[in-house]
Amino acid sequence: MREDSGVLTKEQSHVLTKEGTRLFIKEQAGELIKERSRGLIKEQSHMFMKDRAWVEINLQNLEHNVKVLQERLPQGCELMAVVKANAYGHGDVEIASYLNKIKVHSLAVATIEEGIALRQAGIRGEILILGYTAAEWAKELYQYQLTQTAVDVQHAQELNRYGKAIKIHLKIDTGMNRLGEDYRHVNAIASVFQCKGLKVTGMFSHMSVSDSREEGDIAFSYSQQEHFLTLIESLKERGIAVPKLHLQSSYGLMNYPDLRYGYARIGIALYGVYSTIPGKGQGLFNLRPVLALKSRVVLLKSIGEGESVGYGRAYQSEKETKLAVVSIGYADGYPRSLSGGNCEVLIRGYRAPIVGRICMDQLMVDVTGLPQVERGDTVTLIGRDGKEEIRAEELAQKAGTISNELLSRLGGRLSRRSCPIGKMGN
Ligand SMILES: Cc1ncc(COP(=O)(O)O)c(C=O)c1O
Repeated sequence: MREDSGVLTKEQSHVLTKEGTRLFIKEQAGELIKERSRGLIKEQSHMFMKDRAWVEINLQNLEHNVKVLQERLPQGCELMAVVKANAYGHGDVEIASYLNKIKVHSLAVATIEEGIALRQAGIRGEILILGYTAAEWAKELYQYQLTQTAVDVQHAQELNRYGKAIKIHLKIDTGMNRLGEDYRHVNAIASVFQCKGLKVTGMFSHMSVSDSREEGDIAFSYSQQEHFLTLIESLKERGIAVPKLHLQSSYGLMNYPDLRYGYARIGIALYGVYSTIPGKGQGLFNLRPVLALKSRVVLLKSIGEGESVGYGRAYQSEKETKLAVVSIGYADGYPRSLSGGNCEVLIRGYRAPIVGRICMDQLMVDVTGLPQVERGDTVTLIGRDGKEEIRAEELAQKAGTISNELLSRLGGRLSRRSCPIGKMGN
């Protein structure tokens, strides 16, 4: 079926079945990259990819990040991989399956629905639900062997009434004032360990400024750690067998690596990304981005001087301009707030500015002066193309948010594909 280039023509690829196409795409992507790296062919990815907008997931980079993070954990501390919010936009089933495959068996989600979906997909090990789940769900918690966060003592008592032992981790509020029982309520906290309808397999707290290197914030983080420790000591004095404990998330591990607990709950770092662009001298880990966000050029057109582009006529050309219309928009999770400023995409290894307002399903890019842009060309919105790279942190900053929000909002309309290319995002 192939031509001499080793790549199917558009017509040939159309005769494949959907499943066949998927397999073919994976295989071809690998071959194409090999050939490209040998300089045999130029950019031809549009010949075999039909999707309008998609994320590419590099599982090798995920594995690399897991190793880097595990090396940083103190002895006896287990990595709890946070895969809530569709694994921060990466695809929770795929990420969790791969984590299981590389022997990561502690996961955290935000909701019971996320937990059930993972179990139904065959995910094994402990799945901790970090958010509140009403006691009316007790049957499902038990049935799917999910571990529920008790968000305060009353919640624990409600779960206790189900009659069959539900696994919980008791959350302690040490100063964030979000979920958790106040660390000073030692008697009430101690009473949870007497509940016959509960298996208390963990107790944890969350630090609210562990990412900050400001003096006052560091002092606050130490005070949270101290409150947690004081409670633990009080419980031990009462003869309570204290379960597995955890306090750190990604920045907690980065900035307070000496804490010795049973788990560290790692989200954003697992995906090879920092929440914000790291400051100089910050103790960084050698992480690799797992996700790339891509789309396509679907239309090219030339406009004259003084013509406007898109809604609100927010952009007016100062000279004759070549425009590429790209098939991704804010309904895919690419923030509208990136419109009309200094935001760029990558096409054929070059940066090209977004012009006009980002629409729900499309955006427009100025490709004047870019060599030979064609319909079907791949557009990289997050990730690497040649020597250029756009990182999630850079986009998040421009959108006035953190990469956690940017990634976790990448929408269900995007297709997700595993990238067989070892080097993506390095
Ligand atoms: C309770 C809790 N633990 C852990 C995490 C993971 O945080 P990060 O993504 O910064 O590692 C979160 C994230 O929101 C969280 O709410």
